[in-house]
Amino acid sequence: MDQIRFDGRVAVVTGAGGGLGRAYALEFARRGAKVVVNDLGGGTSGGGQDASVAETVAGDIRAAGGEAIANGASVEDGDQIISAAVEAFGRVDILVNNAGILRDASFGKMTDEDWDLIYKVHTLGAFRTTKAAWPLMREQSYGRIINTASAAGIYGNFGQANYATAKLGLVGFTNTLAIEGASRNIKANAIAPIASSRLLETAFSEDLSAKLKQGHVVPLVMALCSETSEETGALFEVGAGWMAKLRWERGRGVAFDPNTAITAEMVASHWDGICAFDDSEHPHNVDEASMRPLSNIGMSLRD
Ligand code: NAI
Repeated sequence: MDQIRFDGRVAVVTGAGGGLGRAYALEFARRGAKVVVNDLGGGTSGGGQDASVAETVAGDIRAAGGEAIANGASVEDGDQIISAAVEAFGRVDILVNNAGILRDASFGKMTDEDWDLIYKVHTLGAFRTTKAAWPLMREQSYGRIINTASAAGIYGNFGQANYATAKLGLVGFTNTLAIEGASRNIKANAIAPIASSRLLETAFSEDLSAKLKQGHVVPLVMALCSETSEETGALFEVGAGWMAKLRWERGRGVAFDPNTAITAEMVASHWDGICAFDDSEHPHNVDEASMRPLSNIGMSLRD
């Protein structure tokens, strides 16, 4: 297997002043990329700003012989991050949307501010950076995008209705970018990582934290961002040295006669069949997904 290198490539990593983002930035640089280390340098719940956070990581990269600039903008101003990358290095090949905060509260106690801030940093932030990088990637027919989802989004998690919404939203975002970027060699994937960081300081015991290394997440991101990777539109769970791709699974379902009145009672009496997963299938796109319902009325999306 050839070594994965990023020589001549420019990688933008948001939220790279600490945690996973810092680990990605250092590794991209070690493998030859010019790196834009973005970080607002605020607190874990969104307040504050500290330019030195990104500066320190960019400085570490340069001290190790790599190339990096620091950028202290919020991802909400993602266009400024991409402009800085272009100004310094002339292009953007890789974009890792990693910046994140938490505003946990049980749903009854969740405020509009908790909801809006999480949306702004995770969802709007990823939109703004990607929107600015997209025309550059299209123009050069090359792009690698990683969006950071979360198990909380995939499975739900107590106290994280805001975060779960934003994170699963990024999976739909990724899937659509993958479709729209396919003809221009732009690959977009999502990851749901687990690793110790200041964001999850209180979630894990000290013992567990010590073993949940950020370095265990980095190799998957490097592989997905490599030039030879064909993977796109995928979601991976990754952490602790384990990684796996996820997919939707759909039961075979129950096809009622569409020409009769389908009642709630008929639905209730076929509940087991509606929920059964034996003989299940894995639709990959809306065409495949629509086949089963539309075939029940003898039609397809092309009719
Ligand atoms: P972290 O708190 O160490 O890193 C996040 C970085 O994002 C911080 O350095 C922070 O200053 C920066 N940031 C926050 N708001 C920003 C903004 N508006 N603009 C620019 N930078 C901003 O946390 P960690 O764990 O490394 O998180 C990285 C990503 O992984 C996040 O998106 C997080 O939601 C996600 N994640 C992490 C998990 C884990 O187990 N560590 C689990 C699931 C998801």
